[in-house]
Amino acid sequence: MKVLVATEKPFAKVAVDGIREVLESAGHELVLLEKYPDRATLAEAVRSADALIVRSDKVDAELLAAAPALRIVVRAGAGYDNIDLDAATARGIVVENTPGQNSNAVAELVFGMALAAVRNHFDGSSGTELRGKRLGLHAFGAVGRCVARIAEGFGMAVSAFDPFCPPEVMREAGVTPVDTVEQLYAGSDFVSIHIPATPQTRGSIGAALLGLMPKGGVVINTARKEVMDEAGLAAVLADRPDLRYLADVRPDCADDLMERFGKRVVCTPKKMGAQTAEANINAGIAAARQIDAYFRTGDTRCQVNR
Ligand code: 3PG
Repeated sequence: MKVLVATEKPFAKVAVDGIREVLESAGHELVLLEKYPDRATLAEAVRSADALIVRSDKVDAELLAAAPALRIVVRAGAGYDNIDLDAATARGIVVENTPGQNSNAVAELVFGMALAAVRNHFDGSSGTELRGKRLGLHAFGAVGRCVARIAEGFGMAVSAFDPFCPPEVMREAGVTPVDTVEQLYAGSDFVSIHIPATPQTRGSIGAALLGLMPKGGVVINTARKEVMDEAGLAAVLADRPDLRYLADVRPDCADDLMERFGKRVVCTPKKMGAQTAEANINAGIAAARQIDAYFRTGDTRCQVNR
């Protein structure tokens, strides 16, 4: 089968080598399209592909229509909001993700961003510590669980809000479940956001919620920019000079926020949470294996468009 790996933001070379090894040893052909200049180039490349591996690359109805042989798309990563699931389902195309494979990388970045902020961006001035602070996890999926594991080492008190996760699962991980999202924000010195972008979550975090945070609160968003109500975020930052917002998912208004609020707002130039060799290897190789398993045995365990 012809497997197209189309990544606007390429995997580390070592990961591409691993993907190639998995696919070619199973008799598949790998076609690599990195940093493609435009959608037309992507559409041309996908025309003869039987399978497609992407990262945050947009897979919309138009692209799927240009791929008559396509049977499976694997998002090498967690969030699949970049893929038009309805259009894929209508064409009988299986869509999968690779849950958990890049979670540790994202979780480590959460602490990288938190440490940089509380140590005043390493400017030599006196900062604060993470130990003893309250960390609230907004969702307790694969990334939230990794963040909780690392937070334990820092000596933080961790709580989580996740209506889709049984409280026992949190308790087993040493995390205190809270019943409402309001409680989470009100009782956390740091909130780390790990919810996906869905019609229900888009724009769901705004001034009302953020304004509940205690003095000196820090919000870290390594999930999706769409979950923030940007106007509300700007309003609460203006209203509360003690709050900070750290984002690996740059809001549309990032430049404005950074100009107005200085170092209280930190945004990475490009989403880099999953941008490690290890995460690329884990997610890329998992994607290649899932595609081979699908063609060999019909395995669709990670399908997200059932
Ligand atoms: C994910 O959903 O897996 C992360 O946001 C990583 O996305 P990326 O592959 O574009 O870095």
